[in-house]
This record gives sequence, C-alpha cells and structure tokens, in this order.
Amino acid sequence: MVLVGGMGTRLRPLTLSTPKQMLPVGSRPMIEHVVEHLARHGVQEVVLALGFRPDAFTAAYPDGRCNGVRLRYAVEPRPLDTAGAVAFAAAEAGVDRTVVACNGDVLTDMDLSELIDFHRRQGAAATIHLTPVDDPSRYGVVSTDDEGRVMAFIEKPSIEAAPTNLINAGTYVLEPEVLAAIPRGRPVSIERETFPALAAQGRLYALASAAAWIDAGTPASYLAANLRHATDGPAGGVDTTASVTSSVIAAGVTIGPGAVVERSVLMLGADIGRGALVRDSLVGPGARIGDRARLDGLSVVGAGVEVPAGEELVGVRLPAS
Ligand code: GDD
Ligand code: MG
Repeated sequence: MVLVGGMGTRLRPLTLSTPKQMLPVGSRPMIEHVVEHLARHGVQEVVLALGFRPDAFTAAYPDGRCNGVRLRYAVEPRPLDTAGAVAFAAAEAGVDRTVVACNGDVLTDMDLSELIDFHRRQGAAATIHLTPVDDPSRYGVVSTDDEGRVMAFIEKPSIEAAPTNLINAGTYVLEPEVLAAIPRGRPVSIERETFPALAAQGRLYALASAAAWIDAGTPASYLAANLRHATDGPAGGVDTTASVTSSVIAAGVTIGPGAVVERSVLMLGADIGRGALVRDSLVGPGARIGDRARLDGLSVVGAGVEVPAGEELVGVRLPAS
C-alpha cells in the first residue's frame, strides 16, 4: 500500500494543480521512484491509497501498470488519515495478508527485504523502518530497546521532548490483525493512534538503517530530492548565453538570453525571461518568469503563474496559499 492521498499543503501552490506524488523528481513523477524501489524488493502489486486528486494517478497509469508493477486504486470517499487509508485500501483490494505500507513522499533505498525478515524474526504485529535525522521534531520520533521493541512513538514532539534522533521513516510491515483493529468509518492516524497503542502492548518493533532517505514533502526537501538528479548546462530551449547549473529542467522549458538558473526545478514548459535569475527555487509547469525578474531563497511559483518583469521574490510562494 502506498499512501498518496494527502493534500500536499506544504508544497502549495504546486500541489494545487498536481498531487504531491505526481510532482516530478528528476525526470519522473515521485511515485515512480517509490514504486521502482518496491519493485526492486520483489513487490509485484501496489495498492495506491488515494484521496486528494485521484484522477491525476489514474490518468497517468491508465493501464494500471507502473515500472512493471500492477497498480490498483483505492479512492477514499473522504480523507481517512494514514491508518484509515491503509485499512480502507486493504479492504477495497481484498488484502488479508501481511502488507508493506509506505508514505508516498519518501524516497529511499532502504533494504525492504531486511525489514520484512526482521519483522518475521521478532514475531512483530507491526514493524517500522527508522532513519536518523538532525531535527526529529517534524517527524514521528521512535525509541526502542535492544531487541528493537518500540518503547515510545511520539509524533512531531517539540525538539526538547524528542527522546532520540531516530524517526519513523514511513515504511511499515503490518500484520492483518493490525489492519483489522483499525476503527472504520472515521479518520485514524497510524502515527497518533495505531502505533502508540501497539507500542503500549509491546507488539511494535522498529529497525534503523543508514540507507539514503528523504521525505520530499517540503519545498526544501523536495528541491533537495530533485537536485540528486540535477544536470548542468545546455538543453533544448536554453539560450546559449544563459547559464544553467545543478538544476532539473523539464521538457519544453525555454530559458532566455543571459538568464541564470541555479539549484532549481523548472517544470514542464516553464518560461524564463531574458536576464532573469532563478536560484534555489521551484517553478511550476507553464509558469512564466518575466525578463530580469529574480527568484531566490526557496521561492515557489505555481502552475501557469506569471511573474512580472523585474519582480524580486525571495522565499515567496506565488500565489500565496
Ligand atoms: N490516502 C490517504 N489519505 N493518504 C494520506 C492521508 C489520507 O487521509 N493523509 C496523508 N496521506 C499520505 C500523504 O500523501 C503522504 O504520502 C503520507 O500519507 C504521509 O503524510 P505526510 O503529510 O507526508 O506526513 P508527514 O511527512 O508530515 O509525516 C509522516 O512521515 C514522516 C516521514 O516522512 C509521518 O508518518 C511521520 O511519523 C514520519 O516521520
Ligand atoms: Mg511527508
């Protein structure tokens, strides 16, 4: 099960027109990186737990296949939150076996096979992949004993209240009994309700790894995820006097004479005017950055938005949401 039904609020305005997991990372939608990783560990069938803008996914994979994996769609009638979404998707797909569930905005090369083996060895009801981070306060913080039994699961604590720097990395192995115990017909958070309850029963385990990991759900982390796929220099549509460094430039982008693009993402058909500067910023599909305009400091420009010539935006979202 891959959870892709959130509103992507932190990536607005880009997510007003495209759900988060359909935004590009490098040259492909985020979801394809997630599915490819699962496929590498032998996953043959993925149920997408959909809520917000499900049409974007069904339209992108009309034959229900992605990276050689069969896709099934479970569309929630209303947002059921993370545990509610997993339980709903399992019921819709008629799944009654051990499942792997993951957050659709997590890009990682963690060893899923090892996580499943560990889960079975411990006889766990549920097992969580953990990763170390510098600031745990925007994640689910998890402390364990020496056997990997979870002692505490605290979602988004204050930085002082975080007992460790190991956080819920958003990949889970779940036994059917866990799915069956999730209350139906109302939103249920796996982080705030299901996991704390399982931890209190001593039946929740976790395994940390040092694998590459990023949650691409904020402008800074989404940009960082893209920059792993960045290239330099000329591409079609880029004027020879423009300078492009460490950026991701989608198809159909035009960049005018003398423009400078650094550490940025320019989506499908974006147009950068003559002498403009785009640095550390995200430019949505079909957006137009006017001549000599300057975008810097994690500015985010939505689909089709026009930034007037000469405008200076630093850390600005346009339109503001
Ligand atoms: N189907 C469905 N329905 N999906 C949902 C819903 C819902 O109601 N709400 C959220 N999702 C999906 C999002 O689309 C995303 O893929 C995933 O669930 C997690 O939601 P986020 O909004 O990205 O959560 P987060 O990043 O703040 O925190 C989560 O991820 C962290 C790791 O990246 C939590 O699981 C934290 O505990 C964790 O540390
Ligand atoms: Mg997230």
